[in-house]
Amino acid sequence: MAFPPSQRLWVGMLVVVVVAELPGAQQKCIFDEVQAQLRVVRAAPNGPGLRPPEVQGHPVNSGRRTSRQRRSKSLLRGLSVKQRRSLGWIAPPAPASPQPIRIHTWIPRGRDDLSDTEKERLKSAVEEAVRVVSSLLSVNRAPGPLLLSRDINKYCKFIWSNSRSTNYNRCGRANSNYRNETCLDVTIPDDHLAGCDVYPEPDSPHRTVLRPAGAGLPDTDFLLYLHIQSTDKCRAEPDVLAYAVHCRTDTHGRPVAGVVVICRDRLTEASYNHQATVQTVIHELFHALGFSKDLFHTWTDCSSSSQAGAGCSPRGKVIHSDGSDQMRIYTPSVISALQTHLASADPELGGPLENLGVPSGRVSSHWESRVLRGSIMAAVLEDSTAVRIDPVTLAALQDTGWYTVNQSQAQSLVWGEGEGASFGSLSTCQDNSSSFFCTGRRLGCHFLHLHKGECQTDPYLEGCGVFKPLKNASECWIKENARQSADDWSGEILGFDSRCFFSSLTRQSQFPVFSSSVEGRCYRHRCVGPNRYQIQVSGSEWVDCPAGFTIQIKGYQGLVFCPDRRLCLYPDITPPSDDTNMFPTSYASDPLEMLTSAQDGTWLPLRPPTELTVSTALCLTAAACLLAALIVSYRKCRSFMVRIHNIPEDHSNL
Ligand SMILES: *[C@@H]1O[C@H](CO)[C@@H](O)[C@H](O)[C@H]1NC(C)=O
Ligand SMILES: *[C@@H]1O[C@H](CO)[C@@H](O)[C@H](O)[C@H]1NC(C)=O
Ligand SMILES: *[C@@H]1O[C@H](CO)[C@@H](O)[C@H](O)[C@H]1NC(C)=O
Ligand SMILES: [Zn+2]
Repeated sequence: MAFPPSQRLWVGMLVVVVVAELPGAQQKCIFDEVQAQLRVVRAAPNGPGLRPPEVQGHPVNSGRRTSRQRRSKSLLRGLSVKQRRSLGWIAPPAPASPQPIRIHTWIPRGRDDLSDTEKERLKSAVEEAVRVVSSLLSVNRAPGPLLLSRDINKYCKFIWSNSRSTNYNRCGRANSNYRNETCLDVTIPDDHLAGCDVYPEPDSPHRTVLRPAGAGLPDTDFLLYLHIQSTDKCRAEPDVLAYAVHCRTDTHGRPVAGVVVICRDRLTEASYNHQATVQTVIHELFHALGFSKDLFHTWTDCSSSSQAGAGCSPRGKVIHSDGSDQMRIYTPSVISALQTHLASADPELGGPLENLGVPSGRVSSHWESRVLRGSIMAAVLEDSTAVRIDPVTLAALQDTGWYTVNQSQAQSLVWGEGEGASFGSLSTCQDNSSSFFCTGRRLGCHFLHLHKGECQTDPYLEGCGVFKPLKNASECWIKENARQSADDWSGEILGFDSRCFFSSLTRQSQFPVFSSSVEGRCYRHRCVGPNRYQIQVSGSEWVDCPAGFTIQIKGYQGLVFCPDRRLCLYPDITPPSDDTNMFPTSYASDPLEMLTSAQDGTWLPLRPPTELTVSTALCLTAAACLLAALIVSYRKCRSFMVRIHNIPEDHSNL
């Protein structure tokens, strides 16, 4: 994957919805609860308030989306497409190919007087999120400004219901209590809204304008109302960082407006995390743009048309239960992306949806986090360095039919890659068959090996264990995390090129020798080829660390485990850094070249294993037995230390 410099900033630092504040606390997105309380207004060609231009009492800008939406299907019935087009009722097919989606952010004026710092944080996070989403998704742009429909059920007291009357489905009597249109708790300005009329007689074209049309928003494909508030929902759920809803769709069902609420406290925190906020906004935008249980059934199939939105047909029901009660999205790109990811041809591999807190047979708007951990659309999002805009999520957005998605910008998910169709199932996560899961409460490494971790479970994992980053000082790439004490028996080196390794090394010294259990330790690494690297332990030379094997280090007793297919394979898995000079400006398409060490820029020739100087290679299986045996004496002591280090405030302070 090649990332031009302008996109470097978000590579490797995508993420989040809610931040776990306390050990055991859940990062949550309450999108589903909020969306469920909302009625979405869909612009339909023959829907309420839509009329042919000629019955309107004033000239109509035929290029406008509103006038297009107002065209009455009944009057057009019987005319060919060509005739209708010649009458100006149908815009000619968009000559242009899909263009990057233009998201217009509108912040309601509120009482929330944000400080300059908060404003700056908000602005830069939202701008970055919008930039990322626009670079991923393209739409067929509608001509003219965007105008949102008014809800006939709100402004109208009764609607003509006789299908033979001229004013069928139009408003017959205004609702005198009608005040305004809202999107969640944002009042939509009249300027963003189409007009609405009342037809007092069933068959007379006579009408009264209830509200005139606003000017609309030029150059806009999606209108994002951004609401910063300390809402009840923010207060009620301390882990909630943001939430979103969509509230208007176009005639194809594509959402054209929505609200993202960002809980104000999050902008205020001393430990404010920009990347996490960007990822939160992207996550919420993806919900509002189509990744939503309320929209799954409206996704369209555009495979027979060359452009998204044109000549598409409804997909109908896309969610089905698989053989084991897991609800999955069965659409072509999603299935294919998951098959590729898990390296399985199993046709049952639809996109699995989170089932926690969802009644049986119902679905949520998140991926099952055991299977797609780290995805930006998982229900549980952890450290911002681990959250990815993954190929399966992008496939889902493609399958909405509303977007053309640039799949080449997907980020490596890593989690579960190549692990087969049963990966992440409750029946396999505890049988030690996958190195992504763990059992017991032991120390180790987060699966990306950027962090030290501890094996933990949570309600979403339903008993499966994974190595979660330690709450404090877990990052191997942060030099300042080095233990200050005379702990150098461990041989750790922390710094930008350091990664986490399962290790039981202890330095041989004059002190009484003690053996260590296996835990996560930070050592330097440098890539020498795809999945090939060397490591350096304090006081040692660089030594080859053959993936899938263990090595010994001169001057130490114990072993280092060299992870297979985790290091030097994914150029976009790097510590976050604003200093783009620390990375190559782009990754070459040649996989060997791209894996040239980012740290020193030199290409290291591979040495045959016989030249391993201080290492002994063991088969991984044998090593795993040894590992189990080593988790003994030192363990109690270590877990005590971990509790001391569980200081929540530092968790998101990257
Ligand atoms: C997709 O993104 C890549 C990387 O940013 C870019 O080079 C490519 O031109 C994009 N493709 C399309 C069809 O926009
Ligand atoms: C998996 O390994 C752990 C120790 O590493 C062991 O306690 C457990 O019994 C193993 N489980 C199975 C199903 O083999
Ligand atoms: C853990 O956090 C505390 C306070 O946030 C800090 O003083 C301490 O140095 C941290 N521990 C390590 C090992 O960095
Ligand atoms: Zn969500």
